[in-house]
Amino acid sequence: MPRIAIHRLGQCHEGEVKDNSNLVVRAGIRQFPYPHLRYGCGMGKCAKCASRVLAGAEHLPAPNWKELKVLGPERLEQGYRLMCQLWIEHDLEIAQDDLPLAVAPSAPPAAAA
Ligand code: FES
Repeated sequence: MPRIAIHRLGQCHEGEVKDNSNLVVRAGIRQFPYPHLRYGCGMGKCAKCASRVLAGAEHLPAPNWKELKVLGPERLEQGYRLMCQLWIEHDLEIAQDDLPLAVAPSAPPAAAA
């Protein structure tokens, strides 16, 4: 069972989850990491679940298109991921900064021809 550590608001919260768990889904049904995980839409749109991965990133799949769109390449490079888009099978240590990230601005609309 994966062990999860969440650093938030100056504290570290640790617990175990079942293989192939989604942390936002679990928090939504009031299981660890509830109430320590910040989240919102659960659909890869709001960026509230954005977390900096401190350890275990090597076991995560490549970012999907929602993460690319919401976080943008710069935040992905800094190690941020959207927890609602990940199913966890290995130990993971993450940090959620005090303020949620603003959603990355989307590309400007193409100029009308
Ligand atoms: S909870 Fe909204 S993007 Fe993950």
